[in-house]
Amino acid sequence: MKVTHLIAVIALAVFVSCRGGVSKHPPIHLVPDMDDQPYIQAQEDFDFPTWTDKRGMRMPVAGTIAQGTLDQRALGVYEQGGRFVDNPIAATYANLARGQERFNIYCAVCHDRAGSGKGVVMQRAPAGSFNAVLPNLATEERLQAGKMKDGELFKTITEGKATMPAYGHMIPAEDRWKIVHYLRALQHRITE
Ligand code: HEC
Repeated sequence: MKVTHLIAVIALAVFVSCRGGVSKHPPIHLVPDMDDQPYIQAQEDFDFPTWTDKRGMRMPVAGTIAQGTLDQRALGVYEQGGRFVDNPIAATYANLARGQERFNIYCAVCHDRAGSGKGVVMQRAPAGSFNAVLPNLATEERLQAGKMKDGELFKTITEGKATMPAYGHMIPAEDRWKIVHYLRALQHRITE
């Protein structure tokens, strides 16, 4: 009998304490750690004396490089002292194979796998809808190694050219250089 009473009292206490009433007092917080501290929410104004723009969220310091992107940044340089650079990536078989794979994924749709400029897009586009003349990447004199530097081909892939779209945001710099190696390989191909 006594045990039942005890259980009833505990149950009542629990029930009463959970009644959902609103209190003006902060809850009892036995281990506060750093749970309560002033903070600024994302996008909120903040009137800190030296922050003239009053942004609560601070802009990254100029020249900040996102973690893990340093190599890609360095590899993205295609021009130095006003001159186009040579390919900074080694022309190994593996790199060439990767370049071929990427070329076939990203470029062949327009340029075709051999670089002829007669990819499916060009074959199927209704006449006049895609107003572009694609050079033959393998045979065009202007694009050969002696005439056009690797850096300029890299720039075309990165930023696009005339009606050719930019691929810098889609293909990492390292892969773009590997594609350049593959373009050179297409140019060395015996076409006769
Ligand atoms: C949507 C179709 C399309 C795709 C995809 C495409 N290109 Fe092009 N590309 C063009 C067109 C159009 C031109 C001609 C631009 C012009 O008028 O100078 C061109 C021109 C070029 C040139 C010659 C640039 C010059 O200096 O004359 C190169 C090199 C080239 N593309 C490489 C690539 C590579 C590498 C890829 C894949 C990363 C690629 N293209 C993907 C449409 C495309």
